[in-house]
Amino acid sequence: MQNVLVTGGAGFIGSNFVRYLLKQDPTVQVINFDVLTYAGSIENLKGLPDADRHTFIHDDIRDTDALADVFESFEIDTIVHFAAETHVDRSILGPAIFIESNILGTFNLLEVARKNWSGHSHQGQHAFRFHHISSDEVYGALRAEDPPVNEQHAYAPRSPYAASKASSDFLVRAYGHTYDLPITISNCSNNFGPFQFPEKLMPLMILNAMSGESLPIYGDGSQIRDWIYVDDHSAAVWAILQKGRVGETYNVAGDNQYTNKEIVEMICSLLDKMLPASSHSPHKQLITFVDDRPGHDFRYALDTSKITTDLGWHPHETLQSGLRKTIAWYLENEAWVSQIKQRPAYQEWIEENYLKRAEGG
Ligand code: NAD
Ligand code: TYD
Repeated sequence: MQNVLVTGGAGFIGSNFVRYLLKQDPTVQVINFDVLTYAGSIENLKGLPDADRHTFIHDDIRDTDALADVFESFEIDTIVHFAAETHVDRSILGPAIFIESNILGTFNLLEVARKNWSGHSHQGQHAFRFHHISSDEVYGALRAEDPPVNEQHAYAPRSPYAASKASSDFLVRAYGHTYDLPITISNCSNNFGPFQFPEKLMPLMILNAMSGESLPIYGDGSQIRDWIYVDDHSAAVWAILQKGRVGETYNVAGDNQYTNKEIVEMICSLLDKMLPASSHSPHKQLITFVDDRPGHDFRYALDTSKITTDLGWHPHETLQSGLRKTIAWYLENEAWVSQIKQRPAYQEWIEENYLKRAEGG
């Protein structure tokens, strides 16, 4: 691995991965391609280790010419494809951009990769890799009593976001099968950690609780997600790049299944301890139950025995240890928090999503 193209590397997981990669591999060059949607930010890339090995390209995977330019300018041998629209609630309110970026954008990237990989076939199959980052949501919703799903489980996506990720997974597999493009895919559970845009459950609850605003739990909060600390996800992607078998899909999860209500209560009690002088304590009093998400998937749970057995990867953080680190990061990074909260995208989202929900509208 010499020149790694990371798409979406200014977003939450992508920026954590870029940091991880620069630390992990002392010679790698990272080409970070990101259009900087509301969820992406240059602020997420401040203070990168060994930043001269990182090149940022401000462009769009919907633009094939822009992608082709990157392959002309750099001898890309590895692609790690994070770029996507990622929020289920936004996909319900406006699905079109999810189709454009997640499906068509992935298609564009595959096409450019295919052309350039064939052009460099003298390097041999193992000198090139297209790693696609996907989600546990493609498998659809589970019931409480269902066992965790493995990589053979049928796809049954149920939100526009999940359907767009499932479509992109199928395209990536098709390119592997049809054109021998050396692909791998990882389907990961819910991530948490530093630099996550405060529209997703954990950062939204942490920031709202810190400033004494209400904590909106959808429905009755009984839905279950499996949480993974973001660095554990980065380590899994690294393991797949190093040791993963071409053509294979790997499930990645933290083995932390909790209901949304339990998660919010844990955040509240950690904040009570970490901010003993807060006038908002006990933070639990801020919890409000609001209108449910339409088509809300009840539970996701992944069987991760393939990646643990075949690649020796294991998550290191527990929910408690990762949550403590995450809350500490949001408390210590006031400048990041205030620039994010001042963004129109954040303010508009709060108005559009939560105020209406809270009013039952
Ligand atoms: P994010 O929303 O924080 O970041 C997405 C990044 O992609 C942003 O920087 C954005 O600017 C960029 N982007 C979006 N559209 C683009 C386009 N058309 N061209 C170029 N860049 C574009 O998302 P995240 O949570 O970091 O998720 C990253 C990836 O991981 C996504 O593919 C997502 O589906 C997947 N994933 C996320 C989770 C999770 O819990 N967050 C879990 C499993 C898988
Ligand atoms: P989210 O972080 O949006 O991730 P995903 O929908 O991809 O799992 O939501 C996680 C869970 O938390 C999901 O069941 C919806 C719920 N949720 C709330 O109850 N309140 C909120 O404000 C948000 C953002 C999510």
